[in-house]
Amino acid sequence: MVNLGVNIDHVATLRQARMIGVPDTVTAALVCEKAGARGITVHLREDRRHIQLDDVVRLRQAITTKLNLEMAAIDALADIAVRIGPDDVCLVPEKRRELTTEGGLDVAGNSKKITAIVRCLKQAGICVSIFIDPNTRQIAAAAAAGADCVELHTGAYAHAFSVRSRREQELKKLVRAAAFAQKKGLILNAGHGLDYTNAGPVARIAGMCELNIGFSIIARALFVGLSSAVREMNTCINLKKG
Ligand code: PXP
Repeated sequence: MVNLGVNIDHVATLRQARMIGVPDTVTAALVCEKAGARGITVHLREDRRHIQLDDVVRLRQAITTKLNLEMAAIDALADIAVRIGPDDVCLVPEKRRELTTEGGLDVAGNSKKITAIVRCLKQAGICVSIFIDPNTRQIAAAAAAGADCVELHTGAYAHAFSVRSRREQELKKLVRAAAFAQKKGLILNAGHGLDYTNAGPVARIAGMCELNIGFSIIARALFVGLSSAVREMNTCINLKKG
């Protein structure tokens, strides 16, 4: 069974469009959990464009599955994480002008800083994941930094999906990276750009533990409701290949 973590950032994106408190992130998270999500993911961006600190505090108190906090590898956010105590933190790169997280974290190029942040979070009992491209150098650096887990960036695969040869090439990169991560003793997660058509092959990679999926679920929820959108995704990622 592959666990589905639902990223609810875009529930907050919608709320921030009017700033009158709806739709509420906690209500959305509880619907996702009831529909079978095994975790709730939120990205507390430095610019606070969607998720606010108050969302994270309230989610911590309300949800009964896992809270996975995505954040940049900076001290101010590490302090917040230690104070709130999510179950998991996923360290991600962050650029002010990007629409969404664009690439994996350069762990190899920032090993000193990232190792210190990982240590600080782990001392607080938080399971630490690092969002990286499917690249052995970055995976080795994540293991060396003391991470428990890696989340492989599936954006390139998702982008290539409509062209069969490119899709297969990108999937191969993920498969190789997944095997290497497990050899390094890392728990294996993946996410970004996954939807109802492309998530299946990633879910079937040997050893895949959790997929974190946001945009496609929230977009589908407009038409079928959040509960059905989560259930449908859970079916997609846990379907045995026929
Ligand atoms: N995983 C990480 C680390 C992310 O930054 C994001 C986007 O916030 C996701 C998963 C979810 O991506 P998507 O919204 O494209 O499903």
